[in-house]
Amino acid sequence: MEQGQISLTIDGKECVAKEGQSIVQAARENGLFIPTLCDFRSLSPAGTCRVCTVKVGGRFVPGCTSPAVNGMVVENETAELTDLRRALVEMLIVEGNHMCPSCEKSGNCELQELAHHYRIVVPRYPFLFPVQKVEARMAHLFIEHKRCIQCLRCVRGVRAKDGHEIFGFMRRGSDVRITVDVTDPEAVSEATAKKAMEICPVGALIQKRVGFRVPIGQRRFDRKHEKDGKQL
Ligand code: SF4
Ligand code: SF4
Ligand code: FES
Repeated sequence: MEQGQISLTIDGKECVAKEGQSIVQAARENGLFIPTLCDFRSLSPAGTCRVCTVKVGGRFVPGCTSPAVNGMVVENETAELTDLRRALVEMLIVEGNHMCPSCEKSGNCELQELAHHYRIVVPRYPFLFPVQKVEARMAHLFIEHKRCIQCLRCVRGVRAKDGHEIFGFMRRGSDVRITVDVTDPEAVSEATAKKAMEICPVGALIQKRVGFRVPIGQRRFDRKHEKDGKQL
């Protein structure tokens, strides 16, 4: 093993990772899948969704915020963890209003993709059907609060040129909702809206006037399923 590398075991597979990598990063680098929603590329992890939960030493830990450590033994694809992750995805689905056929993010949505992955047809929890308004006052961006999963990716990843955050959260508990300082001209720019839509894992941030530019069936996860030969 080279300097700066560590070795760990994930589901019985010997894996080599770089020091400082999270369990999720280590798994990816070794071709193993751990589901994520709030984790995004180079952003520092927030640990809000918990779908990346794995087991280490008999304890549940979030894979995105837990560092991979030399000699670590990680459980990932077990029946228990699959059921836990499926339950978390089901909760996110029933807590919002996720009507995929009418959602511009369909085919590009990470929540929808995880629902497919876990073969969720009817969630075990009752739908809450929250009544939430669509925020349409910005020139280039809709906020569909009913689809927000509070992953904080927009808060962490969409910033103005001077580095200040454009998105934030207001209210508390179950009433928490994403907000934008509309007095800031960058908050409503076309470039910001494009970036926000890309960074949001679901259809909560939708850039205006781009609907169906990429047809249903030719989007990111549609193409993946086509390649994998899976039925949607
Ligand atoms: S955000 Fe995703 S899961 Fe929700 S309606 Fe849109 S495509 Fe479906
Ligand atoms: S708007 Fe999108 S990116 Fe922002 S917190 Fe909600 S789901 Fe996450
Ligand atoms: S991806 Fe780890 S908590 Fe969301």
